[in-house]
Amino acid sequence: MSQDYTSVEEMIQQDPVFGQVSFNNHEQIVFCNDKDTGLRAIIGIHNTVLGPALGGTRMWQYKNEWEALNDVLRLSRGMTYKSAITGLNLGGGKAVIIGDAKTQKTPELMRRFGEFVHSLSGKYITAEDVGMETEDMDTVREVTPYVTGISQDKGGAGNPSPITAYGVFMGMKAAAKYKYGSDILEDKTVYVQGIGNVGETLVEYLTQEGAKVVVSDINQGKLEEVRDKYGATIYGGTNLYAEKMDIYAPCALGATVNDDTVDLLNCDIVAGAANNQLADEQKHGKRLQERGILYAPDFLINAGGIINVYAELEGYDRTEIMRKTENIYTTTIEILNRAHETGVTTHQAALEIAQARIDARKQEQLA
Ligand SMILES: NC(=O)c1ccc[n+]([C@@H]2O[C@H](COP(=O)([O-])OP(=O)(O)OC[C@H]3O[C@@H](n4cnc5c(N)ncnc54)[C@H](O)[C@@H]3O)[C@@H](O)[C@H]2O)c1
Repeated sequence: MSQDYTSVEEMIQQDPVFGQVSFNNHEQIVFCNDKDTGLRAIIGIHNTVLGPALGGTRMWQYKNEWEALNDVLRLSRGMTYKSAITGLNLGGGKAVIIGDAKTQKTPELMRRFGEFVHSLSGKYITAEDVGMETEDMDTVREVTPYVTGISQDKGGAGNPSPITAYGVFMGMKAAAKYKYGSDILEDKTVYVQGIGNVGETLVEYLTQEGAKVVVSDINQGKLEEVRDKYGATIYGGTNLYAEKMDIYAPCALGATVNDDTVDLLNCDIVAGAANNQLADEQKHGKRLQERGILYAPDFLINAGGIINVYAELEGYDRTEIMRKTENIYTTTIEILNRAHETGVTTHQAALEIAQARIDARKQEQLA
């Protein structure tokens, strides 16, 4: 795929679903509508070769349906590669609910959404993403078993975000090891953009290690809370991308490495939790490489959350979750070495390894 992010104006020039640039041979796309609860959702099932398509549900106030569809197509594809590179027997899927999670999310709407998930008989398994809480997954669980990320007291593995943050921290340390020869982040300046569920825990790990952490968020109250709790500095400038820093950690929404920012970035490493950080994987991945900025592939280093929810399906414990998440360090080093040896971008190197695993399984299934 040469380009997987585009403007709404460009999107409406193309066929609405299969013609979109973000469409990537997805197996199934399910549009869910319920007048009574106001539910409008799209479930994207990208690939189920390695197992059921598992991926979170995002509730967001999309500008229009094009934007929502584009997001679910991109996110579900990302899940396929995330699970494949992490060695999990899961396919890739994702769901988006169109609406404001603060004002439009109700238990009735979540239950109705759960019924749609249930109608897919386990081909898609949901979890939480932006705009969702563990309690929402508990509500979905009332109507379907095909949900993970439910509360610990209901038999689930609980909120995956702290594990995701640990994995990002491991991936960041691996990138530092590769770039600087040491994975100690003490005194490194790290900008964490977005201090929500994942970002805040990442700030905790970083400040514990003595990194100089600068935080930015659209939520002023949260900024002050995180500053007071961990001693982080609140970003006060107008263009974060142009600031001199060692590590940029995008932990809000995706596509922040784009045409407008890629040449501004003034850092050594990009390593964060956000999904789909590169607006155009090939173009912006290549540009980072040319500029000598090391990119730790997002779908590799933010896999802690999926490892956590996978534990619910496989029944393994916290020790095993942490061991698998810690292993992100080793996999990141392997990918960075492979990219260097083969001359491809780090993102491409990770994709190739993930795709090879899917292809091998498909061959086994055909044999
Ligand atoms: N939660 C997980 O386990 C998990 C797993 C993998 C990937 N991710 C990805 O990591 C990212 C963060 O996830 P989360 O669970 O912490 O979400 P969250 O909603 O808890 O936090 C996101 C934070 O970003 C802030 N934000 C939004 N727009 C911003 C902007 N323009 N500039 C600065 N801050 C902004 C929000 O105010 C919020 O504090 C998302 O892209 C998510 O898809 C999360």
